[in-house]
Amino acid sequence: MSEDKLKPIVSLCKRRGFIYPGSEIYGGFANTYSFGPYGTELKKNVKDLWWKTFVQQRRDLVGIDGPILLHPETWRASGHVESFNDAMADCKACKARFRVDKIIEEQLGKDVEGLNLSELSKILKEENVFCSKCGKKDFTDARHFNLMFQTQMSKTDLENNIAYLRPETAQAIFLEYKNIVDTMRVKIPFGIAQIGKAFRNEITPGNFIFRVIEFEQMEIEYFIEENTWQAQFDKWLDDMKAWCNLIGLKSDNLHLAEHPKEKLSHYSKRTVDITYDFPFGTNELYGLAYRTDFDLNQHQKFSKVSQEYIDTVNNKRYIPHVIEPTFGVERTILALICDAYEEEALENGETRTVLHFNKNIAPIKVAVFPLMKKPELQKVSKSIFDDLKNFWNVEYDETGAIGRRYRRQDELGTPYCITIDYETLEDFSVTLRDRDSMKQERVKIDQLKNVIAERLKG
Ligand code: GAP
Repeated sequence: MSEDKLKPIVSLCKRRGFIYPGSEIYGGFANTYSFGPYGTELKKNVKDLWWKTFVQQRRDLVGIDGPILLHPETWRASGHVESFNDAMADCKACKARFRVDKIIEEQLGKDVEGLNLSELSKILKEENVFCSKCGKKDFTDARHFNLMFQTQMSKTDLENNIAYLRPETAQAIFLEYKNIVDTMRVKIPFGIAQIGKAFRNEITPGNFIFRVIEFEQMEIEYFIEENTWQAQFDKWLDDMKAWCNLIGLKSDNLHLAEHPKEKLSHYSKRTVDITYDFPFGTNELYGLAYRTDFDLNQHQKFSKVSQEYIDTVNNKRYIPHVIEPTFGVERTILALICDAYEEEALENGETRTVLHFNKNIAPIKVAVFPLMKKPELQKVSKSIFDDLKNFWNVEYDETGAIGRRYRRQDELGTPYCITIDYETLEDFSVTLRDRDSMKQERVKIDQLKNVIAERLKG
């Protein structure tokens, strides 16, 4: 895939109501997006399937829905106030702002991970790095920029009344670890899962919804005994790969990337990313980290509330260690759309654009069309729609030529279309069209639901 491949995808996302640029009527608001009607359905299907897979179908996980605003002390304990920083510098000539590691990496091909601010400033001054907006070489010194969004609260006992929008959902889970142990009869190993918004004041966001300032995470904190961490890590990596397979991502586009020691986050002893071949390059899709007992230890220290787990069977007390599989929702959606997108050359010389979504996440499962806007065809079509809508997300469409209606559903990734024509009135069958093969076959109305149910399973 080339970088140009992203353009038609962005265009389809807007044209077909998957994803719109944020605040467009005000000229846009950088790196924010709205999910349109079909994007919302797709996202909901992904989140529901994730919840079903990791929470409902497992006996060792429970789910929570914690707040976005957590006590500010949380972020001091977690290390985010101190360490969740990027080094940035401004171009003095045009005022453009850059992430220093990125601009050096792009222009010099150097990995500067681990260098301090004065070392970075020296490279900006002495080496061949230019502003990529105006071409001048006149940067401010590099300085730290904390990625957490701040907000003001009316509560006055907070330092400067400042609270933070959570930059990861994980901490909301750690704060409830003790409540879950006390109320849910869980035994180690067990996990707590959450799906929710996270916010990061990214300096150089971009690549459509790949890096945005407001996004959703699907995260699990899995609490274990320290000596089992390697085995648990391997198991979770397998479970994450199985998830990628379940939603239909092509395995050829997926890879593993082990973080070298110097690139590990402040809380991690080992991290492996699952990366995906996006049109703009291979990049992190998901992450798996061994967070040790760092977070619970820190919260115990800062809150002075014991986070010890009491193992009554073996008569032991200890602070559990944690394996963290984390999944970004927006990146999942982007990978799914890129993976499913095809401009297919047809035998008649035309090209059709189609999204080959896996059936389990396709926003619409079936579309119902009367061949023409005639009352006798509309009546049967509406009754089929009314029946099928009880089982799946079904769309009724009677506008435009039938070929165009098929093409529209291809672009939405709808696996099946049903057309009701004059023959239907005589033989009580309809045309069932398959998105991928475009094959059409006649199916009796009374068998339609079972036939579709069977195929949606496959
Ligand atoms: N709790 C661990 C954590 O937050 P992370 O690697 O910083 O780890 C987890 O983020 C996942 O969240 C990433 O793998 C990615 O899928 C998603 N993500 C992170 N930053 C993002 C951003 N700015 N925009 C969209 N998704 C993002």
